[in-house]
Amino acid sequence: MRDARIPIDVSDRAQVEAWLRTEDPILLEELWTCADETRRAHVGDAVYLRGLVEISNHCVRQCLYCGIRAGHRELARYRLTTDEVIECAHEAVRRGYGTLVVQSGEDPEWTRGRVCELIRRVKSETGLAVTLSLGERGEDELLGWRRAGADRYLLRFETSDRSLFARIHPGRAGLASDRIESLRRLRELGFEIGGGVMVGIPGQSYASLAEDVLTFCELDLDMIGVGPFLAHPETPMGRGEVAPLPAGEQVPATKEMTCKVVALARLACPDANIPSTTALATLAREHGRELGLARGANIVMPNLTPFRYRRMYEIYPAKSCLGEDPVDFHAQLVARIRAIGREVGEGPGASPAWRRRYPAIS
Ligand code: 5AD
Repeated sequence: MRDARIPIDVSDRAQVEAWLRTEDPILLEELWTCADETRRAHVGDAVYLRGLVEISNHCVRQCLYCGIRAGHRELARYRLTTDEVIECAHEAVRRGYGTLVVQSGEDPEWTRGRVCELIRRVKSETGLAVTLSLGERGEDELLGWRRAGADRYLLRFETSDRSLFARIHPGRAGLASDRIESLRRLRELGFEIGGGVMVGIPGQSYASLAEDVLTFCELDLDMIGVGPFLAHPETPMGRGEVAPLPAGEQVPATKEMTCKVVALARLACPDANIPSTTALATLAREHGRELGLARGANIVMPNLTPFRYRRMYEIYPAKSCLGEDPVDFHAQLVARIRAIGREVGEGPGASPAWRRRYPAIS
């Protein structure tokens, strides 16, 4: 077996870009093998399952790519009650998950106090680890939620290319947002931090995607979410209003390219928790989850949002979780994980990187 520790230099921007560009099947086989060996050596064969609850599709933002942007006026909006979220948390416990991921659009009605109350109830009634993914929120809110017991925070930076980010993610009240800085702040507040990007955003170059991989490493992320950009027809980007780069420069939004970024993320941050995302499963219908798990990922986030709301959390069309039968899906997922020689992880499944940082409390 080759030495999986220093196989490919992911701190070298030019090398990362070369990996993103290569279509040589023999080289790619080497990348997949390296990522899989690194995954096994650092985080083992356990696949941790996180129950995802989308608590609101209200959003004050106007992101050009996202189907729940405020400008999508025809979309019916919903907001779960705290009791409904708690019911989802109990379902997560019944299925043996260790973590509840609470996600929503940027919804001011989920105030600091309401979210604090939710965190406290999830913690006291279920003992689950709590991951928040509620967008860019104020310092007082983040601090309050951490104090209330939230363990982790997910905030993808989408692209490290600042001018592209500013174009696709209009600021609020004239303030440009800086998600990379926000992640640093979340780390200081004691959260396990998750970042990530979309692959194949119109205007995204190979050089900037290589920089994204270096940024994962620089931020020393605990969690890295990577999915393909999927065009939503009711958004400016889905309508083709954002110009792609010339052929040869524009990154394609394909499953192969997404897998390359997952594999390179694993090599850049060997100890991180990396999900095989719903967006990848949406693009690669049959075996998308397995594909990600074979190429560096060690997490799956099954959707627990009540079925009547699930269609409305349409950040992109035809999300693969819409077809996931609520009863059978869990058993099927466990069988699929075992069929590829992996096992289902038990407990909260904090990243080894975080456990090293806080040995006393993990
Ligand atoms: N295609 C793929 N991913 C998307 N996201 C939002 N809109 C889309 C889209 N059209 C991703 C973003 C966001 C996460 C919650 O979903 O990366 O951070």
